[in-house]
Amino acid sequence: KNIAIIMGGYSSEYKISLISGGVVYDYLDKEKFNAYRIHIFKNKWVYVDADQKEHPVNRHDFTVELATEIIKFDCVFNAIHGSPGEDGLMQAYFELIGIPQTSCDYYQASLTFNKRDLLSVLKPYGIKSAPSYYINLGDPIDEDGIIAKVGLPCFVKANKAGSSFGISKVYKKEELLKAIDNAFKEDNEILIESFLDGTEVSVGVIKYKGETKVLPITEIVSENDFFDYEAKYEGKSQEITPARITMEQEQKVSQIAKKAYEVLKMKGFSRSEFIFVNDEPFMLEMNTTPGLTTESILPQQAKIAGISLSELFESAIWEALK
Ligand code: DAL
Ligand code: MG
Repeated sequence: KNIAIIMGGYSSEYKISLISGGVVYDYLDKEKFNAYRIHIFKNKWVYVDADQKEHPVNRHDFTVELATEIIKFDCVFNAIHGSPGEDGLMQAYFELIGIPQTSCDYYQASLTFNKRDLLSVLKPYGIKSAPSYYINLGDPIDEDGIIAKVGLPCFVKANKAGSSFGISKVYKKEELLKAIDNAFKEDNEILIESFLDGTEVSVGVIKYKGETKVLPITEIVSENDFFDYEAKYEGKSQEITPARITMEQEQKVSQIAKKAYEVLKMKGFSRSEFIFVNDEPFMLEMNTTPGLTTESILPQQAKIAGISLSELFESAIWEALK
């Protein structure tokens, strides 16, 4: 089978995606799959061969024309974080041209990538989230109204972004406008949420051998003020799997993460973040193309569940081809 591993993307997360895609490429069993690295950037879609030479991808049918052959793909492995791989654009494109891909469908990607919409869809199912305030670019900014609703400290986030780009923790009213400006650099919508003081956990839910499987839970202990970019990728955090939480907490958060996955009719990998407040998990977000670098959380969780990276990636391909 010819597998196109797509990586890169249009957002600030492209560097992480190139690492994730490289890991998928390295670990896919070459006896079973012909793996191709495809870089997707705004100005170019290219196949990068073993000599790092770039060959353009035909965008109308996702083929690659070489001097000796035309490469057609049986499946796409989606390793793009952020737009256009995590917000539904690539999913819709592949659905239109009829190539199966490993992540969820376009609607689920688009919905989950929008933090506000995801959390509001899940609320009636009893899935709790922090009090929040939403702003569109150009809206008047009512600082007192914001603070009255979410309190201090609070988190100012780009509504549609990943890897903590655009996120700040705000302690004082005077810091609010700067944080809002910073978040608007990543997205034209902003979500401001109350600070939840408690243990943060990350829950991987995947389709594995036809079943919805919850992976061992990871506890996040950040050396920085919160689990920001540096904490995520520059070692400024401890990620402890399995999390040091009670059995009841573990059962509760596993059940909620699985329920969210099933209610939304998800496919592929997902990793949802929660903070416990008095034993009650509050959901922050769901990632549908979670980081796949060897240090990333989902691969660590899979390893602890006894699933090697090769098995994890291969299973995603078989699920997509079903
Ligand atoms: N958005 C990053 C890649 C993650 O969720 O792991
Ligand atoms: Mg995220």
